[in-house]
Amino acid sequence: MCRPRPQPVVLEQIETIAALRSRLTHGGAVGLVPTMGALHAGHVALIDAARRDSDLVVASIFVNPLQFNNADDLARYPQTLDADLSVCRDRGVDLVFTPSAAEMYPQPPECTVDVGRMADNLCGKYRPGHFRGVATIVLKLFQIVQPRFAYFGQKDAQQLAIIKRLTTDFNLPIGIVEVPTVREPDGLALSSRNRHLNAEERKIAVSLYVALTHAATMIREGARSAELIRRAAVDLVPQTAGLRLEYLEIVDPNTMQPLMEVDGPVCIAGAMWVGATRLIDNVLAVP
Ligand code: PAF
Repeated sequence: MCRPRPQPVVLEQIETIAALRSRLTHGGAVGLVPTMGALHAGHVALIDAARRDSDLVVASIFVNPLQFNNADDLARYPQTLDADLSVCRDRGVDLVFTPSAAEMYPQPPECTVDVGRMADNLCGKYRPGHFRGVATIVLKLFQIVQPRFAYFGQKDAQQLAIIKRLTTDFNLPIGIVEVPTVREPDGLALSSRNRHLNAEERKIAVSLYVALTHAATMIREGARSAELIRRAAVDLVPQTAGLRLEYLEIVDPNTMQPLMEVDGPVCIAGAMWVGATRLIDNVLAVP
């Protein structure tokens, strides 16, 4: 579906739920791009996909405190609102929703989304409560914006799988559109956190992608034991000071549950600390 975009586009920034709701009464197909700001080319790919499908594109920029299990990580999360607004303007976003924490959480929520076992491993294991926070804010944004489509990156594979399941389990009439990971020329996945890397860290940050793609190659070439593939990939991560692999797992791409044998499409996912920066990435592999 490709709809011509009305010209000229004037970007509207809206900070309250009431103002956004009263603005969203025109009846066309709304595409929602939920973000935490610090926009990069990965977000641009989400916005461009939304622009292709929707009459009205809404991007939200909200650093959601409920999904941070570590206060330092929240404090350190990059905030670049002016630059983000100009990215949105350049890419033809119609409305940017920039609520405050008090607007989204006027009181600490009593009711949150219990994600269940999809949040038990991978990032969920190392960031307790993270996916409860993600699923809760995404459900709130869906309720507020009521989009026809919402756009998420494949880079956050566990988040994407959980959000797809959220829409199924709660019968939400929203199409979840997944957009491929955007990478630097050496393969490093774009992430808002990459801006924390110094030059030395930036060079070694690609090791996670190298390990993940090695596992994918083994699968394409016939390896089937998830543990053997996993170990070979882990062994490839250099024992360099400042680099620490948190996890590297082979999981079912829909349920995020670990696999013993590769007998269908798999997601190979990992998280790695590079200095004080935690990076995640994943690749899909088909035997
Ligand atoms: O992927 C993100 O940036 C966030 O987890 C999301 C989906 C915007 C929810 O805060």
